[in-house]
Amino acid sequence: MTDVMWDAEIYEKAADARPPASDTALPPICDPRQLRNTLGNFATGVVVLTYQAGEDFYGVTVNSFTSVSLDPPLVLVSMQRTSRALAYLLERPFAVNVLGDNQLDTALHFAGKPQSRPVDWVTDGPAPRIGGSPAYLQCTPWAGYDGGDHVLVLGRVTAYGQQDDARPLLFYRGQWSALAQESEDGTANGARSERS
Ligand SMILES: Cc1cc2nc3c(=O)[nH]c(=O)nc-3n(C[C@H](O)[C@H](O)[C@H](O)COP(=O)(O)O)c2cc1C
Repeated sequence: MTDVMWDAEIYEKAADARPPASDTALPPICDPRQLRNTLGNFATGVVVLTYQAGEDFYGVTVNSFTSVSLDPPLVLVSMQRTSRALAYLLERPFAVNVLGDNQLDTALHFAGKPQSRPVDWVTDGPAPRIGGSPAYLQCTPWAGYDGGDHVLVLGRVTAYGQQDDARPLLFYRGQWSALAQESEDGTANGARSERS
């Protein structure tokens, strides 16, 4: 484990994650749905952030994940202010679980569409994580910043691991997808795609 920045400092930093400034004088640049559709042209992977509250384990599906810094090791997610997970991610350890293309049910489960298959919880670190994920990063909160109707949550990586034989779950233009497989003749083959 690396240094953990606990309560007082975290709350001080999270204060930066203040509500949006009241700059309503600025006209909206466009229709939010059109903007969202345009942003959806950026293909991403999918992660589930997992954490413990009381005796229970929780998760939230996110595609705004990105790496930020190697020294110190920092990662970032952009969380809706309405997310129940947000307050927890700013004040306790959480795990980033990178999902594989066989974990669509897990992505749906933690995006508000509960699935019947039980989650394969692994409890070998500060935060619970999801077994069978291609990669995971254990994080402690580092900072929270204002991101308009979102809050930018930075986590400091304290442990991590990966599987070599995994393939990622992708999200593109509002659809779930997977990497194209290269066939024996060297051509790309059948990327799967499903509506969210
Ligand atoms: C593909 C996908 C990506 C998502 N990415 C984000 C994200 O980056 N940030 C966010 O706050 N919510 C994101 N969501 C929405 C949350 O998963 C969803 O609102 C969830 O129910 C919030 O749970 P919570 O209120 O328990 O935190 C995403 C959903 C999907 C399906």
